[in-house]
Formats: sequence, C-alpha cells, structure tokens
Amino acid sequence: MTRLEAIHPHTIAHRGLSAHFPENTLTAVRGAYRCGCPWVELDVQLLGDGTPVIWHDPGVRRCSSRRGKLFTFDMTTAKTLDVGAWFHPRFAGERMATLEEMLDLINELGLGLNLELKVNRGRDPRTLTETSLPMALDKLPTERLVVSSFNRQALHTARQLEPDPHRLNLGLLYDKLPKEWREIASHLNAYSFHLDWRRLKEKQAREIKATGYRLFCYTANDPIAFAPLWQWGVDAVISDDPDLFAHYLPGKAAT
Ligand code: G3P
Ligand code: MG
Repeated sequence: MTRLEAIHPHTIAHRGLSAHFPENTLTAVRGAYRCGCPWVELDVQLLGDGTPVIWHDPGVRRCSSRRGKLFTFDMTTAKTLDVGAWFHPRFAGERMATLEEMLDLINELGLGLNLELKVNRGRDPRTLTETSLPMALDKLPTERLVVSSFNRQALHTARQLEPDPHRLNLGLLYDKLPKEWREIASHLNAYSFHLDWRRLKEKQAREIKATGYRLFCYTANDPIAFAPLWQWGVDAVISDDPDLFAHYLPGKAAT
C-alpha cells in the first residue's frame, strides 16, 4: 500500500461531531462513531501544567461553565469544568478530555484522527508538538492519523521528531494558500493540504492534486454549495455534520 492509498475518508467530523455534541469531547467522538463517521478532527493544546488536552479556544468561556485562559488551568482544575452543559443540559457533567484519554477512545473505536496542533497566540508550538506528537504516534497507526497545523513551527518540529513521511502524515492548514506552497510542502514532506473551502480556487485545487497531495477542505456544512469542489479533486470535507454530505459524495460510497 502506498502512502496516498492508505487514507481515503470522504468526510471528517469537525471537532468530533460538533453539530450534535459538545465539540472536542469524548461524547462527541462516541457520537461520531455511532453515526458512522470514520474520521474525526480534533484540536490539541496544553494546559498550564503541560498536559495536552482536546480544546479549541484560547480560553474556556465559550465551551465551559467558567472563564479564564486555558493555560491558567492545570489538570485538576480543568477537570472541574463542565464542558457539556453549555451545548445542551443533557450533556451536563462532561469533562475536558486529555489527549491520552481521547487517543485511547479513538483506538478503541477504530476511528481515524486528524489531530490539529492548535497554537493559540502566545503559546509555544515546540512544546505542544514535542508533548503531543509522540503520544499520537505511539497510540495510532500511521494510516489512521494525520497531524495538521496552521503553525509552521509546529509542523517543522513534528517533522524533526518523525522524519519518515511513511510514519507521519503531515497536513498544512491554511486560510489562504500561500504562493510558495510547493516549497513549504516539499520541505516538510507533507501529506495533505487542509484549506478553507470558501477561499479555495479551482486552479489551486487542481495544482495541489496534480502535485500529488491530498486535499481536505474545512469547514463545510452545505453539501450543495460544496458539490463543485469534488470535481476539482478535493479528497475530503471536514464538516460539523458529515451526514449532510451522505448523498453528495463522489463515487458510490457515502464514507
Ligand atoms: O482543521 C480544520 C479546522 O478545524 C481548522 O479550523 O478553527 O476549526 O480549528 P478550526
Ligand atoms: Mg481544528
């Protein structure tokens, strides 16, 4: 099996199945599994004590019962947060997931993971990568893991930690594709581009595919508006609700 044959989801559930569950939680990932999503995308950051946790924002206000910057919490205090009730009362009592807990669950369920190294302002990309990547590589087989980031330093650190592209699929995340994308991807020995579908141009998509990379698009929840992008060669859509795409995927398999 070649590297590019190893991974072929058409849909990836954004932050777990975040349309239906509190984002980036164990419950969201269990929900994604029950709904038949083969892959999930999750964000990882570090708490103040260095514990990697599954969390998107710089702070906890939007998705928890409290306020404060994530790095002001340690594992003990982070576990006191309710990270489910903000979404719906039936999820009250949900706790922030550590990366380790999440990797164990993903392994148990046999899901694929797009792990985004989320480097919020002022945070250190090297420490995040050096802490998180070895855990992910240890727990998941290569074909079920893509590590992505908007942060170039995080990607460089990841590639330094695992130089073999057959052992680490690296994804380059961009809001807007830079002109020098070929050089960056070649230098990092990248596997995939993860691009904002609203800003992607057909020419860019076709060039990325012709150069041999996987092309993932985030975050799309309108399968009809998204439909032309499949013709451009897009491989997978990262969606809050992949089921919306069930009847709009390329080929016959609604995977
Ligand atoms: O990885 C795709 C997408 O998650 C990037 O944006 O802000 O949702 O992490 P964001
Ligand atoms: Mg993300």
